[in-house]
Amino acid sequence: MKLTIPKLSLCAAIVLTMNPLNLALAENLPSTTKTDKKSHENYDITARGIHKPMYDYYAHKIKQTTQITKGICLDVGSGGGYMGLSLAQITDLDFIFLDISEKALEKAKQHIIEDSLQARAKTLLADVHAIPLDDNSIDLVISRGSIPFWKDPAKGLSEIYRVMKKGGKAYVGGGKGSPEILEQINKKRQELGMKPFNGRTKQHGDGMKRDYAALLESVGITQYKIHQGDDGRWIEMWK
Ligand SMILES: C[S@@+](CC[C@H](N)C(=O)[O-])C[C@H]1O[C@@H](n2cnc3c(N)ncnc32)[C@H](O)[C@@H]1O
Repeated sequence: MKLTIPKLSLCAAIVLTMNPLNLALAENLPSTTKTDKKSHENYDITARGIHKPMYDYYAHKIKQTTQITKGICLDVGSGGGYMGLSLAQITDLDFIFLDISEKALEKAKQHIIEDSLQARAKTLLADVHAIPLDDNSIDLVISRGSIPFWKDPAKGLSEIYRVMKKGGKAYVGGGKGSPEILEQINKKRQELGMKPFNGRTKQHGDGMKRDYAALLESVGITQYKIHQGDDGRWIEMWK
């Protein structure tokens, strides 16, 4: 099936790129120093390699929880698209990989080709705080590991809610898979002489301590459930 982003939204995407406010936002995009390039590369290699079982785990969990298997899925802060790419293997969904980093989306584009998903997936360079998509246009929103980095997570969540269709769902949060998957991953990391894949990083700041219920209620979202378990902290929203 050919994926088309609503016409209005494409215009919005062009406006978004040209708008001085968004040029200012673009200045906050990760720079392309050698170190950044290397960390992008390393992240990508592990995400497609030894961390892949974690994305497969969440893809199965999202399918099971939301029961949404067709329509359009928006992966927010997709990075190289890892979770969406796993979900594509087990559903008929079409995908929009949205990220504020051009470098991350370059990886997503490469993986879309590698996985032969050109007819089902597109990338969108944008900020979650101003999603350039129509109201009520998306069936499923997914996002892993991005919310701790949002400057205004309440605004990001309300933007996600705005683009969700009636009957649509969202699964947003973070974690490192089930304890069994994390153990498997850490075993492989140890064999490769890597540090364990645990805990929060400096870059997360206080982003992982946020009170999700308070954030959701502050923007009037009442249809939600917070899943706090041994596989992370996730917000399920529905409309
Ligand atoms: C830790 S990475 C997670 C990537 C991927 N979802 C995963 O699970 O591996 C966080 C991602 O969120 C993106 N991001 C951060 N702030 C964002 C914003 N305001 N809007 C859109 N994406 C953002 C970053 O560029 C980065 O690709």
